[in-house]
Amino acid sequence: MNTPPDAPPANDPDLGWTEDGLPRSGRFGDLYFSAQDGLAETREVYLRGCGLPEAWRGRQRFTVGELGFGTGLNVLALLDLWRRERPPGATLHIFSVEAFPLKVEDARRALGHWPELGELSQTLNERWPPRTPGFHRIDFPAHHAVLDLAVMDVADALEAWGGRADAWFLDGFSPATNPQMWRDEVLTLVAARSAPGARAASFTVAGAVRRGLAAQGFDVAKRPGFGRKNERLEAVFSGVAPPEPKPGRVAIVGAGIAGASLARAFRALGQEPALYDREGAGAGASGGPAALVTPRFDAGGGVIADLFAQAFDRAVTLYRQDAPGAVLRSGVVQLEHQDRDARRFDQVAAQTLWEPGAVMRLSPDEASQALGEPVARGGLWLRDGLAIEPLGVLGAWLSDVRQVRGDIARIERVGELWRLLDAGGQVVGEAETVCLAAGWGAVALIPDAPLTPARGQASLVTGVSCPTPFAWGGYVVPTRDGVLIGATQDRGETATDTRPADNERNLESLARTTPALADLIGGAPIEGWAAIRAITPDRLPLAGALASGLFVLGGLGARGFTAAPVLAEHIAALATGTPSPLPSALAARVHPRRFPR
Ligand SMILES: Cc1cc2nc3c(=O)[nH]c(=O)nc-3n(C[C@H](O)[C@H](O)[C@H](O)COP(=O)(O)OP(=O)(O)OC[C@H]3O[C@@H](n4cnc5c(N)ncnc54)[C@H](O)[C@@H]3O)c2cc1C
Ligand SMILES: C[S@@+](CC[C@H](N)C(=O)[O-])C[C@H]1O[C@@H](n2cnc3c(N)ncnc32)[C@H](O)[C@@H]1O
Repeated sequence: MNTPPDAPPANDPDLGWTEDGLPRSGRFGDLYFSAQDGLAETREVYLRGCGLPEAWRGRQRFTVGELGFGTGLNVLALLDLWRRERPPGATLHIFSVEAFPLKVEDARRALGHWPELGELSQTLNERWPPRTPGFHRIDFPAHHAVLDLAVMDVADALEAWGGRADAWFLDGFSPATNPQMWRDEVLTLVAARSAPGARAASFTVAGAVRRGLAAQGFDVAKRPGFGRKNERLEAVFSGVAPPEPKPGRVAIVGAGIAGASLARAFRALGQEPALYDREGAGAGASGGPAALVTPRFDAGGGVIADLFAQAFDRAVTLYRQDAPGAVLRSGVVQLEHQDRDARRFDQVAAQTLWEPGAVMRLSPDEASQALGEPVARGGLWLRDGLAIEPLGVLGAWLSDVRQVRGDIARIERVGELWRLLDAGGQVVGEAETVCLAAGWGAVALIPDAPLTPARGQASLVTGVSCPTPFAWGGYVVPTRDGVLIGATQDRGETATDTRPADNERNLESLARTTPALADLIGGAPIEGWAAIRAITPDRLPLAGALASGLFVLGGLGARGFTAAPVLAEHIAALATGTPSPLPSALAARVHPRRFPR
């Protein structure tokens, strides 16, 4: 197995430590926080500077943006205030930007100065995001707060962010040492991403920053500074925040992984959705005995690679965090299948999308060792790939959700509401927000849905084991008492009967890849499991708004368990007017109306 490179990544912060144990950026030649008392400074400059906690009084949602995440100290001070002063039932969104992320061990050392941040520091440390480019979400469920960290340059991050901040912490090293952080382009984007009446605070009162903010519509004032600093900056954006929209009822149609992910995401935002399914949880494609959670690769990089890297990371995090009992195995081998895969996999393993060690190239010998029998080709080791029990995930995410048995034939708009009607025209339910998560069933509900069906059958064999989950064109997933071998793919077919001939096809494919395992299975009894995948013309999901208050999460194809969790959070964010975890280019790529009609 190739070893992770020792060289630091291109976005390494070049961190050093002062004699007093304070973190110092070698890249910028500046300290991350005040030598006097960083936490007290943060509270004075940023929390007080943004008028907190008064500014969030009476609010159900509040969003704070930060330029310069650094050690996470400002964010922890904010969370510490939030846990003490949270308006009942409210949720906090934090969006922070960091081009040169710290390693977790360095952040732990830096934050060790403040034992009073205890449990919050520990949660941040345990959930410290990867240092790879992209948006990374960290949950603080005990405090109804979520942090989206954008690992990229500040202008790219603000450009990509779909949220509107109620408060800004402008903390990007001094403008003299780091003019990039304070350039006009950045301040223009700060204004564009500000809610009316937003507050901004900074340690710097540099003339260029004050003038820049004023030119963007901020009313800027100098205030007495903290410690040895004479002054700090406070600013208020023009406009008056409109009254918060009242959260309406949410109905979800379909109780597969899409519906369960939506229910989880809405509940994390304090909403209690009702879930409608004609047969019950797991009746469709999400009810198989086991499933793999792996990304779709794009060796050329770009939006598709970014989308699946983020979706994969989020799915793995959420299954481990919120459905740990459903995780069967960690670590998946992806075998080369075609001649071109060797080069493709070299490129994939070299992508900066993965943390060191997360996606590693395997030689044929190493792949043989992992699989426990000789294989002719090499592959990739996906350290964080998972084998999961789908029904375990659905059970965990739906246990407290109101579930209604109902076959929805039609949806109609009545005033501000959407009505769900059955085939007899009876109203089965109504809600201000409806999310269609009906898998292949969506074609009956969305007249012009760009979906085609693909029947798939997987084959379950008990009493056999294999050392690790692996995939080629097919896959083998160890279950609790056997293995699942998948899966056929028949475009255009919608029948879900199980067929001995399809089990044969799965075994033949297995025999060509790992003949010893196929021999072991030999004449053992095989059970088939068949369902229908819903596939879009570009094989990317549908996730977004179809009309005001009407959303779809579908077209999940062969990777629903990877894609659904983050896309559901995107939809829940759109529906509640909270910041999406998806950068805008990724959101555009999965928009349900992207195909010409
Ligand atoms: C054989 C096979 C193996 C697979 N293996 C994997 C794998 O290893 N990893 C992976 O990520 N993906 C895998 N997939 C793909 C994955 O199963 C799908 O992407 C995913 O399950 C789709 O989830 P969904 O929630 O969109 O749809 P579904 O799971 O199909 O759920 C839709 C739900 O909507 C309900 N419904 C439909 N219409 C209506 C209506 N009108 N009214 C009320 N309810 C309705 C249905 O009863 C159903 O419960 C596999 C698929 C197959 C077929
Ligand atoms: C003063 S430190 C922030 C301290 C931080 N708020 C804390 O609580 O520890 C400034 C941060 O801005 C980051 N930074 C500098 N230039 C940047 C840029 N162009 N884009 C994004 N982040 C940048 C630095 O890497 C550094 O972490």
